[in-house]
Amino acid sequence: MEGMKLIGIQENSTVVVQKARAKGERNPFKSDSFKRENRVTLDLTYLFDAPGPGSISKEDFEKLIPKAMKAHQLLRENKGDIFDKGIAMTGWQDMPVQITPSHISEINDAARQLASRIDAYVSLGIGGSYLGIEATIKALTHTYFNQLSREDRGGVPEIYFLGQNMDPDYFRDTLDMLEGKRVGVNVISKSGTTTETAIAFRIIRKLMEDNWGEAAAGLIIVTTDKKKGALRRLAEQKGYTTFVVPDNIGGRFSVLSDVGLVGLSVAGIDIEEFVEGFKDMRERCMSDDFWQNPCLAHAVARHLAWQKGKKIEVVATNSTALYGVARWMEQLFPESEGHKGHGMWVSPSLYSEKLHANGQMVQEGERNILETFLYLKEHDNRLNIPLDEEDLDGLNFLAQRGRDMNFVNRMVVEGPAYAHYKGGVPCIIVEVPRRNAYNIGQVYYMMERSVAISGYLLGHNPFIQPGVEAYKKAMFALIGKPGFEELRREMEEEMSKKARVKI
Ligand code: PA5
Repeated sequence: MEGMKLIGIQENSTVVVQKARAKGERNPFKSDSFKRENRVTLDLTYLFDAPGPGSISKEDFEKLIPKAMKAHQLLRENKGDIFDKGIAMTGWQDMPVQITPSHISEINDAARQLASRIDAYVSLGIGGSYLGIEATIKALTHTYFNQLSREDRGGVPEIYFLGQNMDPDYFRDTLDMLEGKRVGVNVISKSGTTTETAIAFRIIRKLMEDNWGEAAAGLIIVTTDKKKGALRRLAEQKGYTTFVVPDNIGGRFSVLSDVGLVGLSVAGIDIEEFVEGFKDMRERCMSDDFWQNPCLAHAVARHLAWQKGKKIEVVATNSTALYGVARWMEQLFPESEGHKGHGMWVSPSLYSEKLHANGQMVQEGERNILETFLYLKEHDNRLNIPLDEEDLDGLNFLAQRGRDMNFVNRMVVEGPAYAHYKGGVPCIIVEVPRRNAYNIGQVYYMMERSVAISGYLLGHNPFIQPGVEAYKKAMFALIGKPGFEELRREMEEEMSKKARVKI
Protein backbone atom coordinates (compact mmCIF):
# COMPACT_ATOMS: atom_id res chain seq x y z
CA MET A 1 0.00 0.00 0.00
CA GLU A 2 1.27 3.44 -0.84
CA GLY A 3 1.55 6.10 1.83
CA MET A 4 -1.18 8.72 2.19
CA LYS A 5 -0.98 11.84 0.06
CA LEU A 6 -2.62 15.04 1.27
CA ILE A 7 -5.07 15.25 -1.62
CA GLY A 8 -7.12 18.44 -1.53
CA ILE A 9 -5.26 19.78 1.54
CA GLN A 10 -3.50 23.09 1.21
CA GLU A 11 0.16 23.64 1.98
CA ASN A 12 0.81 24.13 5.71
CA SER A 13 0.99 27.88 6.33
CA THR A 14 3.07 27.45 9.48
CA VAL A 15 5.73 25.77 7.36
CA VAL A 16 5.39 28.50 4.74
CA VAL A 17 6.05 31.09 7.46
CA GLN A 18 9.04 29.12 8.78
CA LYS A 19 10.53 28.87 5.29
CA ALA A 20 9.92 32.56 4.69
CA ARG A 21 11.87 33.35 7.86
CA ALA A 22 14.83 31.47 6.40
CA LYS A 23 14.74 33.79 3.40
CA GLY A 24 14.77 36.80 5.71
CA GLU A 25 11.13 37.69 4.97
CA ARG A 26 9.57 39.54 7.89
CA ASN A 27 6.17 40.74 9.03
CA PRO A 28 5.74 44.49 8.47
CA PHE A 29 5.50 44.88 12.24
CA LYS A 30 6.27 48.58 12.24
CA SER A 31 3.39 49.44 9.92
CA ASP A 32 0.17 50.93 11.25
CA SER A 33 -2.02 48.49 9.38
CA PHE A 34 -0.14 45.49 10.81
CA LYS A 35 -0.47 46.97 14.30
CA ARG A 36 -4.17 47.62 13.82
CA GLU A 37 -4.80 44.06 12.69
CA ASN A 38 -2.65 42.60 15.45
CA ARG A 39 -3.89 44.34 18.54
CA VAL A 40 -4.32 42.00 21.49
CA THR A 41 -7.51 42.96 23.29
CA LEU A 42 -9.19 42.26 26.59
CA ASP A 43 -12.90 41.50 26.60
CA LEU A 44 -14.67 41.70 29.95
CA THR A 45 -18.21 41.21 28.61
CA TYR A 46 -18.66 37.94 30.48
CA LEU A 47 -17.01 39.13 33.68
CA PHE A 48 -19.95 40.97 35.18
CA ASP A 49 -23.14 39.65 36.76
CA ALA A 50 -22.68 35.92 36.24
CA PRO A 51 -25.47 34.27 38.26
CA GLY A 52 -24.87 32.54 41.57
CA PRO A 53 -22.41 33.01 44.42
CA GLY A 54 -19.42 35.35 43.99
CA SER A 55 -20.99 37.37 41.18
CA ILE A 56 -18.95 40.41 40.10
CA SER A 57 -20.74 43.70 39.61
CA LYS A 58 -19.48 46.63 37.58
CA GLU A 59 -20.00 48.76 40.67
CA ASP A 60 -17.60 46.64 42.76
CA PHE A 61 -15.15 46.74 39.88
CA GLU A 62 -15.26 50.52 39.67
CA LYS A 63 -14.66 50.84 43.40
CA LEU A 64 -11.27 49.19 42.94
CA ILE A 65 -10.11 51.57 40.21
CA PRO A 66 -8.59 54.21 42.54
CA LYS A 67 -6.51 51.54 44.31
CA ALA A 68 -5.34 50.19 40.96
CA MET A 69 -4.44 53.69 39.77
CA LYS A 70 -2.34 54.21 42.89
CA ALA A 71 -0.56 50.89 42.26
CA HIS A 72 -0.01 51.94 38.63
CA GLN A 73 1.65 55.14 39.79
CA LEU A 74 3.86 53.39 42.38
CA LEU A 75 4.95 50.77 39.88
CA ARG A 76 5.87 53.39 37.32
CA GLU A 77 7.99 55.16 39.95
CA ASN A 78 9.57 51.90 41.13
CA LYS A 79 8.20 52.39 44.62
CA GLY A 80 6.58 50.05 47.12
CA ASP A 81 7.10 46.43 48.09
CA ILE A 82 9.06 45.46 44.98
CA PHE A 83 12.59 44.94 46.26
CA ASP A 84 14.69 41.80 46.48
CA LYS A 85 17.98 42.12 48.36
CA GLY A 86 17.82 45.89 47.94
CA ILE A 87 17.13 45.80 44.19
CA ALA A 88 13.84 47.01 42.67
CA MET A 89 12.78 43.97 40.63
CA THR A 90 11.04 45.98 37.96
CA GLY A 91 13.70 46.02 35.25
CA TRP A 92 11.25 44.27 32.92
CA GLN A 93 8.88 47.25 32.84
CA ASP A 94 11.07 49.52 30.72
CA MET A 95 13.10 46.81 29.07
CA PRO A 96 11.07 46.96 25.81
CA VAL A 97 12.22 50.54 25.27
CA GLN A 98 15.71 50.03 26.64
CA ILE A 99 16.82 47.10 24.51
CA THR A 100 19.22 48.44 21.91
CA PRO A 101 19.43 47.42 18.24
CA SER A 102 23.09 46.57 18.76
CA HIS A 103 22.21 44.15 21.56
CA ILE A 104 19.61 42.51 19.36
CA SER A 105 22.21 42.15 16.61
CA GLU A 106 24.67 40.65 19.07
CA ILE A 107 22.07 38.04 20.10
CA ASN A 108 21.09 37.28 16.50
CA ASP A 109 24.75 36.91 15.48
CA ALA A 110 25.60 34.52 18.32
CA ALA A 111 22.40 32.53 17.80
CA ARG A 112 22.83 32.24 14.03
CA GLN A 113 26.47 31.36 14.38
CA LEU A 114 25.67 28.52 16.76
CA ALA A 115 22.58 27.39 14.81
CA SER A 116 24.56 27.08 11.59
CA ARG A 117 26.97 24.62 13.21
CA ILE A 118 24.53 22.28 14.93
CA ASP A 119 21.67 19.89 14.23
CA ALA A 120 20.07 20.15 17.68
CA TYR A 121 19.89 22.98 20.20
CA VAL A 122 19.27 22.11 23.83
CA SER A 123 17.96 24.78 26.16
CA LEU A 124 18.66 23.94 29.80
CA GLY A 125 16.71 25.66 32.55
CA ILE A 126 13.67 25.52 34.81
CA GLY A 127 10.85 27.88 35.83
CA GLY A 128 11.45 31.35 34.43
CA SER A 129 14.60 30.09 32.73
CA TYR A 130 12.52 27.69 30.67
CA LEU A 131 8.77 28.25 30.36
CA GLY A 132 8.70 31.47 28.34
CA ILE A 133 11.21 30.16 25.82
CA GLU A 134 9.32 26.94 25.20
CA ALA A 135 5.95 28.72 25.18
CA THR A 136 7.08 31.23 22.57
CA ILE A 137 8.73 28.68 20.32
CA LYS A 138 5.65 26.45 20.46
CA ALA A 139 3.36 29.40 19.82
CA LEU A 140 5.23 30.32 16.65
CA THR A 141 6.30 27.03 15.13
CA HIS A 142 4.91 23.79 13.74
CA THR A 143 3.53 21.30 16.31
CA TYR A 144 5.98 18.61 15.16
CA PHE A 145 8.84 21.03 14.61
CA ASN A 146 11.67 18.58 15.33
CA GLN A 147 10.22 15.98 12.98
CA LEU A 148 10.22 18.33 10.00
CA SER A 149 13.15 18.56 7.60
CA ARG A 150 15.62 21.33 8.33
CA GLU A 151 14.38 23.17 5.26
CA ASP A 152 10.77 23.05 6.47
CA ARG A 153 11.85 24.24 9.93
CA GLY A 154 13.24 27.34 8.25
CA GLY A 155 16.86 26.19 8.20
CA VAL A 156 17.20 26.03 11.97
CA PRO A 157 18.22 23.15 14.26
CA GLU A 158 15.88 20.89 16.18
CA ILE A 159 15.06 22.30 19.62
CA TYR A 160 14.97 20.39 22.92
CA PHE A 161 14.53 21.31 26.56
CA LEU A 162 16.25 19.71 29.52
CA GLY A 163 16.81 20.63 33.15
CA GLN A 164 13.13 21.49 33.71
CA ASN A 165 12.59 18.31 35.72
CA MET A 166 14.52 15.51 37.37
CA ASP A 167 13.08 12.67 35.31
CA PRO A 168 15.79 10.21 34.22
CA ASP A 169 13.55 8.55 31.61
CA TYR A 170 12.69 11.86 29.97
CA PHE A 171 16.36 12.81 30.01
CA ARG A 172 17.47 9.46 28.59
CA ASP A 173 14.81 9.60 25.87
CA THR A 174 15.97 13.07 24.90
CA LEU A 175 19.55 11.81 24.63
CA ASP A 176 18.31 9.27 22.08
CA MET A 177 17.01 12.17 19.99
CA LEU A 178 20.44 13.79 20.17
CA GLU A 179 22.45 10.74 19.19
CA GLY A 180 24.53 11.22 16.07
CA LYS A 181 23.72 14.93 15.93
CA ARG A 182 25.90 17.99 16.32
CA VAL A 183 24.60 19.51 19.55
CA GLY A 184 24.68 23.05 20.93
CA VAL A 185 23.61 23.98 24.43
CA ASN A 186 22.42 27.11 26.19
CA VAL A 187 22.43 26.66 29.95
CA ILE A 188 20.23 29.28 31.58
CA SER A 189 20.22 29.93 35.31
CA LYS A 190 20.19 33.30 37.00
CA SER A 191 21.42 31.91 40.31
CA GLY A 192 23.73 29.43 38.62
CA THR A 193 23.01 26.96 41.39
CA THR A 194 19.63 25.46 40.50
CA THR A 195 20.02 21.72 41.00
CA GLU A 196 17.86 20.52 38.10
CA THR A 197 19.70 22.73 35.60
CA ALA A 198 23.12 22.04 37.09
CA ILE A 199 22.72 18.25 36.94
CA ALA A 200 21.42 18.43 33.38
CA PHE A 201 24.37 20.59 32.37
CA ARG A 202 26.85 18.29 34.05
CA ILE A 203 25.56 15.27 32.08
CA ILE A 204 25.37 17.08 28.74
CA ARG A 205 28.71 18.82 29.19
CA LYS A 206 30.44 15.51 29.91
CA LEU A 207 28.90 13.99 26.81
CA MET A 208 29.93 16.96 24.69
CA GLU A 209 33.47 16.96 26.05
CA ASP A 210 33.77 13.19 25.58
CA ASN A 211 32.75 13.65 21.97
CA TRP A 212 34.45 16.85 20.93
CA GLY A 213 37.07 17.57 23.59
CA GLU A 214 37.98 21.22 23.88
CA ALA A 215 35.89 22.10 20.84
CA ALA A 216 32.79 21.47 22.98
CA ALA A 217 33.36 24.87 24.58
CA GLY A 218 32.48 26.55 21.29
CA LEU A 219 29.07 24.87 21.32
CA ILE A 220 28.08 26.03 24.79
CA ILE A 221 26.34 29.26 25.71
CA VAL A 222 25.88 30.25 29.34
CA THR A 223 23.14 32.68 30.37
CA THR A 224 23.53 33.72 33.98
CA ASP A 225 24.26 36.56 36.40
CA LYS A 226 26.80 39.05 35.07
CA LYS A 227 29.23 38.61 37.97
CA LYS A 228 28.34 35.95 40.49
CA GLY A 229 27.46 32.27 40.71
CA ALA A 230 28.99 28.90 39.89
CA LEU A 231 27.96 29.08 36.23
CA ARG A 232 29.62 32.44 35.74
CA ARG A 233 32.88 31.07 37.19
CA LEU A 234 32.70 27.96 35.01
CA ALA A 235 31.96 30.03 31.90
CA GLU A 236 34.94 32.27 32.53
CA GLN A 237 37.22 29.34 33.16
CA LYS A 238 36.13 27.46 30.03
CA GLY A 239 35.71 30.47 27.77
CA TYR A 240 32.03 29.87 26.93
CA THR A 241 30.00 32.53 25.15
CA THR A 242 27.91 34.23 27.82
CA PHE A 243 24.68 36.18 28.07
CA VAL A 244 23.32 37.96 31.10
CA VAL A 245 20.23 37.70 33.28
CA PRO A 246 19.82 41.26 34.56
CA ASP A 247 19.95 41.79 38.34
CA ASN A 248 16.65 43.62 38.39
CA ILE A 249 14.60 41.04 36.48
CA GLY A 250 13.34 37.84 38.11
CA GLY A 251 13.13 34.56 36.20
CA ARG A 252 9.41 34.62 35.38
CA PHE A 253 9.69 38.19 34.06
CA SER A 254 12.77 37.47 31.96
CA VAL A 255 11.48 36.20 28.62
CA LEU A 256 12.32 39.49 26.90
CA SER A 257 15.87 39.47 28.26
CA ASP A 258 18.78 37.36 26.99
CA VAL A 259 17.10 34.45 28.80
CA GLY A 260 14.42 34.24 26.12
CA LEU A 261 15.87 36.05 23.15
CA VAL A 262 18.84 33.79 22.42
CA GLY A 263 16.73 30.62 22.13
CA LEU A 264 14.03 32.39 20.12
CA SER A 265 16.61 33.65 17.70
CA VAL A 266 18.08 30.14 17.33
CA ALA A 267 14.55 28.99 16.43
CA GLY A 268 14.43 31.60 13.67
CA ILE A 269 11.88 33.82 15.42
CA ASP A 270 12.04 37.53 14.65
CA ILE A 271 13.05 38.93 18.03
CA GLU A 272 12.71 42.53 16.87
CA GLU A 273 9.05 41.86 16.14
CA PHE A 274 8.74 40.24 19.57
CA VAL A 275 10.25 43.34 21.22
CA GLU A 276 7.85 45.56 19.25
CA GLY A 277 4.89 43.67 20.74
CA PHE A 278 6.20 44.28 24.25
CA LYS A 279 6.87 47.92 23.43
CA ASP A 280 3.42 48.63 22.08
CA MET A 281 1.65 46.87 24.93
CA ARG A 282 3.89 48.76 27.36
CA GLU A 283 2.70 52.01 25.84
CA ARG A 284 -0.95 50.98 26.28
CA CYS A 285 -0.26 49.82 29.84
CA MET A 286 1.35 53.14 30.76
CA SER A 287 -1.90 54.97 30.03
CA ASP A 288 -3.47 56.84 32.94
CA ASP A 289 -6.87 56.32 31.38
CA PHE A 290 -8.01 53.18 33.20
CA TRP A 291 -10.44 52.08 30.50
CA GLN A 292 -7.73 52.31 27.85
CA ASN A 293 -5.26 50.31 29.95
CA PRO A 294 -5.71 46.54 29.47
CA CYS A 295 -3.29 45.51 32.18
CA LEU A 296 -5.02 47.58 34.86
CA ALA A 297 -8.44 46.28 33.88
CA HIS A 298 -7.06 42.73 33.82
CA ALA A 299 -5.50 43.12 37.27
CA VAL A 300 -8.68 44.56 38.77
CA ALA A 301 -10.84 41.83 37.20
CA ARG A 302 -8.67 39.07 38.66
CA HIS A 303 -8.31 40.74 42.04
CA LEU A 304 -12.02 41.22 42.40
CA ALA A 305 -12.69 37.65 41.31
CA TRP A 306 -10.29 36.47 44.01
CA GLN A 307 -12.00 38.65 46.60
CA LYS A 308 -15.31 37.13 45.54
CA GLY A 309 -14.08 33.64 46.28
CA LYS A 310 -12.69 32.58 42.91
CA LYS A 311 -9.62 30.58 43.85
CA ILE A 312 -8.95 28.83 40.56
CA GLU A 313 -8.28 30.52 37.25
CA VAL A 314 -8.78 28.18 34.32
CA VAL A 315 -6.69 29.61 31.48
CA ALA A 316 -8.23 27.97 28.46
CA THR A 317 -7.09 28.26 24.89
CA ASN A 318 -8.47 27.09 21.56
CA SER A 319 -4.95 26.76 20.16
CA THR A 320 -2.50 23.96 20.85
CA ALA A 321 0.22 26.45 19.95
CA LEU A 322 -0.86 28.84 22.72
CA TYR A 323 -1.14 26.16 25.40
CA GLY A 324 2.47 26.87 26.38
CA VAL A 325 1.55 30.51 26.99
CA ALA A 326 -1.12 29.29 29.43
CA ARG A 327 1.58 27.20 31.10
CA TRP A 328 3.79 30.30 31.32
CA MET A 329 0.88 32.04 33.08
CA GLU A 330 0.62 29.05 35.40
CA GLN A 331 3.99 30.09 36.74
CA LEU A 332 3.79 33.86 36.47
CA PHE A 333 0.66 34.33 38.54
CA PRO A 334 0.87 31.67 41.29
CA GLU A 335 4.58 32.22 41.96
CA SER A 336 3.97 35.95 42.26
CA GLU A 337 0.60 35.91 44.05
CA GLY A 338 0.94 32.84 46.26
CA HIS A 339 2.10 34.57 49.42
CA LYS A 340 0.56 34.99 52.88
CA GLY A 341 -2.34 32.70 52.05
CA HIS A 342 -3.30 34.77 48.96
CA GLY A 343 -3.58 33.96 45.31
CA MET A 344 -5.45 32.11 42.60
CA TRP A 345 -4.37 28.73 41.30
CA VAL A 346 -3.90 28.85 37.52
CA SER A 347 -4.97 25.79 35.59
CA PRO A 348 -3.90 25.78 31.90
CA SER A 349 -6.47 24.13 29.66
CA LEU A 350 -6.75 23.25 25.99
CA TYR A 351 -10.28 23.42 24.61
CA SER A 352 -12.15 21.50 23.47
CA GLU A 353 -10.02 18.62 24.80
CA LYS A 354 -10.45 19.64 28.44
CA LEU A 355 -14.16 20.30 28.05
CA HIS A 356 -14.49 16.54 27.87
CA ALA A 357 -12.31 16.09 30.94
CA ASN A 358 -13.06 18.74 33.56
CA GLY A 359 -15.72 20.76 31.73
CA GLN A 360 -18.40 19.31 33.99
CA MET A 361 -16.66 20.83 37.01
CA VAL A 362 -16.34 24.22 35.33
CA GLN A 363 -20.03 24.20 34.43
CA GLU A 364 -21.56 22.82 37.62
CA GLY A 365 -18.90 22.33 40.30
CA GLU A 366 -18.04 24.61 43.20
CA ARG A 367 -18.36 28.22 42.07
CA ASN A 368 -14.75 29.11 42.90
CA ILE A 369 -13.57 29.40 39.28
CA LEU A 370 -12.61 32.34 37.09
CA GLU A 371 -12.11 31.45 33.46
CA THR A 372 -9.68 33.25 31.18
CA PHE A 373 -9.75 32.46 27.49
CA LEU A 374 -6.58 32.87 25.48
CA TYR A 375 -8.56 33.14 22.31
CA LEU A 376 -6.69 32.76 19.02
CA LYS A 377 -8.85 34.47 16.40
CA GLU A 378 -7.08 33.28 13.22
CA HIS A 379 -5.15 30.04 13.08
CA ASP A 380 -2.37 29.70 10.51
CA ASN A 381 -4.32 27.12 8.49
CA ARG A 382 -7.91 26.66 7.40
CA LEU A 383 -9.40 23.20 7.14
CA ASN A 384 -12.56 22.65 5.14
CA ILE A 385 -15.11 20.13 6.32
CA PRO A 386 -15.91 17.93 3.30
CA LEU A 387 -19.40 17.05 2.06
CA ASP A 388 -20.28 13.40 2.52
CA GLU A 389 -22.84 11.71 0.29
CA GLU A 390 -24.28 9.54 3.04
CA ASP A 391 -24.09 12.17 5.80
CA LEU A 392 -24.35 9.49 8.48
CA ASP A 393 -22.77 11.81 11.09
CA GLY A 394 -25.24 14.57 10.15
CA LEU A 395 -22.51 17.15 9.60
CA ASN A 396 -23.27 18.09 6.00
CA PHE A 397 -24.99 21.22 7.24
CA LEU A 398 -21.54 22.62 8.08
CA ALA A 399 -20.10 21.84 4.67
CA GLN A 400 -23.22 23.16 2.92
CA ARG A 401 -22.94 26.47 4.75
CA GLY A 402 -19.22 26.73 4.00
CA ARG A 403 -18.32 26.34 7.68
CA ASP A 404 -14.77 25.13 8.17
CA MET A 405 -12.99 23.64 11.19
CA ASN A 406 -11.84 27.15 12.10
CA PHE A 407 -15.43 28.26 12.51
CA VAL A 408 -16.19 25.33 14.81
CA ASN A 409 -12.96 25.99 16.73
CA ARG A 410 -14.04 29.55 17.46
CA MET A 411 -17.29 28.21 18.84
CA VAL A 412 -15.34 26.14 21.36
CA VAL A 413 -14.51 29.46 22.95
CA GLU A 414 -17.73 31.33 22.35
CA GLY A 415 -19.90 28.35 23.35
CA PRO A 416 -18.18 27.61 26.68
CA ALA A 417 -17.81 31.32 27.49
CA TYR A 418 -21.57 31.69 27.24
CA ALA A 419 -22.44 28.38 28.94
CA HIS A 420 -19.94 28.74 31.77
CA TYR A 421 -21.00 32.32 32.38
CA LYS A 422 -24.63 31.21 32.60
CA GLY A 423 -23.45 28.51 35.02
CA GLY A 424 -21.91 31.13 37.31
CA VAL A 425 -18.31 31.38 36.06
CA PRO A 426 -17.11 34.90 35.28
CA CYS A 427 -14.92 34.97 32.17
CA ILE A 428 -12.14 37.14 30.80
CA ILE A 429 -11.31 36.86 27.11
CA VAL A 430 -7.84 37.78 25.86
CA GLU A 431 -8.10 37.96 22.08
CA VAL A 432 -4.95 37.14 20.16
CA PRO A 433 -5.45 37.98 16.49
CA ARG A 434 -2.79 35.67 15.00
CA ARG A 435 0.20 33.52 15.81
CA ASN A 436 3.06 35.96 15.47
CA ALA A 437 5.86 37.27 17.68
CA TYR A 438 4.27 40.72 17.94
CA ASN A 439 1.11 39.29 19.49
CA ILE A 440 2.89 36.96 21.90
CA GLY A 441 5.04 39.88 23.09
CA GLN A 442 1.90 41.91 23.79
CA VAL A 443 0.34 39.11 25.83
CA TYR A 444 3.50 38.68 27.92
CA TYR A 445 3.84 42.35 28.77
CA MET A 446 0.17 42.68 29.67
CA MET A 447 0.39 39.70 32.02
CA GLU A 448 3.67 40.76 33.62
CA ARG A 449 2.35 44.20 34.42
CA SER A 450 -0.98 42.84 35.55
CA VAL A 451 0.63 40.52 38.09
CA ALA A 452 2.83 43.37 39.33
CA ILE A 453 -0.30 45.47 39.95
CA SER A 454 -1.85 42.43 41.60
CA GLY A 455 1.01 42.43 44.13
CA TYR A 456 0.13 45.98 45.19
CA LEU A 457 -3.57 45.11 45.41
CA LEU A 458 -2.88 42.04 47.52
CA GLY A 459 -0.36 43.90 49.66
CA HIS A 460 2.75 41.80 49.11
CA ASN A 461 5.89 41.65 47.02
CA PRO A 462 5.18 39.69 43.81
CA PHE A 463 8.84 39.56 42.79
CA ILE A 464 10.14 37.14 45.38
CA GLN A 465 9.44 33.46 45.91
CA PRO A 466 10.64 32.50 49.40
CA GLY A 467 8.28 29.53 49.34
CA VAL A 468 10.29 27.87 46.55
CA GLU A 469 13.33 27.81 48.86
CA ALA A 470 11.56 25.51 51.33
CA TYR A 471 11.41 22.60 48.89
CA LYS A 472 14.99 23.23 47.77
CA LYS A 473 16.31 23.07 51.34
CA ALA A 474 14.42 19.87 52.12
CA MET A 475 15.68 18.30 48.89
CA PHE A 476 19.28 19.41 49.55
CA ALA A 477 19.08 17.84 53.03
CA LEU A 478 17.74 14.59 51.63
CA ILE A 479 20.32 14.30 48.84
CA GLY A 480 23.07 14.92 51.40
CA LYS A 481 24.28 18.30 50.15
CA PRO A 482 27.08 19.56 52.43
CA GLY A 483 25.84 22.31 54.74
CA PHE A 484 22.38 20.78 55.17
CA GLU A 485 23.30 18.06 57.71
CA GLU A 486 21.49 19.74 60.59
CA LEU A 487 18.27 20.07 58.61
CA ARG A 488 18.54 16.45 57.56
CA ARG A 489 18.83 15.36 61.20
CA GLU A 490 15.81 17.49 62.12
CA MET A 491 13.78 16.09 59.25
CA GLU A 492 14.69 12.50 60.04
CA GLU A 493 13.82 12.98 63.68
CA GLU A 494 10.49 14.53 62.87
CA MET A 495 9.65 11.90 60.27
CA SER A 496 10.59 9.07 62.64
CA LYS A 497 7.95 10.31 65.08
CA LYS A 498 5.22 10.34 62.48
CA ALA A 499 2.93 7.36 62.42
CA ARG A 500 3.23 5.91 58.91
CA VAL A 501 -0.07 5.46 57.15
CA LYS A 502 0.56 3.25 54.17
CA ILE A 503 -2.03 0.94 52.69
O1 PA5 B 1 10.69 33.05 38.46
C1 PA5 B 1 11.67 32.65 39.09
O2 PA5 B 1 12.43 33.41 39.67
C2 PA5 B 1 11.98 31.17 39.15
O3 PA5 B 1 11.01 30.42 38.51
C3 PA5 B 1 13.33 30.88 38.52
O4 PA5 B 1 13.32 31.29 37.19
C4 PA5 B 1 13.67 29.40 38.61
O5 PA5 B 1 13.64 28.99 39.94
C5 PA5 B 1 15.05 29.12 38.02
O6 PA5 B 1 16.01 29.86 38.68
P1 PA5 B 1 17.45 30.06 38.09
O7 PA5 B 1 17.34 30.84 36.85
O8 PA5 B 1 18.20 30.79 39.15
O9 PA5 B 1 18.04 28.69 37.83
